[in-house]
Amino acid sequence: MSDRPIAFLDSGLGGIPYLLAARAHAPGERLVYYADTASFPYGDRSESEVRCIVRDAVARLMELADPRLIVIACNTASVVGLDELRRQFDVPFVGVVPAIKPAVERGASEPIGVLATSRTVGGAYLAGLIRRFAPQARVELVAADELVRMVEYHLGEFDEGQLRDLLGPSIDRLRSAGVRTIVLGCTHFIHVRGFIESLAGPRVTVVDSVEGVVRQTIRLARGGAAVGDVGHADRGPAPLVLVSGLAGSSYRFLASVHALQLRELATLDGLPGVRG
Ligand code: DGL
Repeated sequence: MSDRPIAFLDSGLGGIPYLLAARAHAPGERLVYYADTASFPYGDRSESEVRCIVRDAVARLMELADPRLIVIACNTASVVGLDELRRQFDVPFVGVVPAIKPAVERGASEPIGVLATSRTVGGAYLAGLIRRFAPQARVELVAADELVRMVEYHLGEFDEGQLRDLLGPSIDRLRSAGVRTIVLGCTHFIHVRGFIESLAGPRVTVVDSVEGVVRQTIRLARGGAAVGDVGHADRGPAPLVLVSGLAGSSYRFLASVHALQLRELATLDGLPGVRG
């Protein structure tokens, strides 16, 4: 196993479920997470802004942690900027895009709902994915930027009722369109997947990309070796979560529940040991 870490990057805490799944599948692997909270949110910025911000974040992450592979654990950044990142940096990338293909493979010829940021919903990449993998299906797109903020700033502090106040009308719209599958096209929403499932009801299946992306990541990072089943998630070094701006209460909540080491970059400069 290489000593260089596998890194994950998002505008905030959305990519943490990918980090946790990687730790569960590959305990003992060095994992680093970069939460670009100084530039949060990405989802309502222009494409060119997102490209610039993500390029800078990747450069900083490379300098700090020297990863052997980077997962862009953010749909917005992946759909807008992944091709360019691959040209700009000499490190392999794995991207995260709305799981339209898996939703269709589940037999969804019924309508599909996609919950994502405004940038992802309005972009050409998602339109292309739908044309390619779901040309026959009716696809209902919902931009939920407020939900991104709620999860980023208040994770662990709100209940299902508050989520219903925010998301209820959108879920009702999807249900009345006959949607049987909801694709979580923003990584932040994975943190409240249980709430979304219960709002959507038992006839609707909620789909995300965590398992597929993490298996692909570990396979690539280990030069093609088969990926084992989930092991002992709490063994091995605690993953390091680097935060480019402030790490608010949601970060302290996640760090205590999942045993993560939190470092705000403003206080990190000059500290040894990030590169391992
Ligand atoms: N978590 C990100 C995604 O998957 C976006 C959140 C944001 O708007 O910054 O799209």
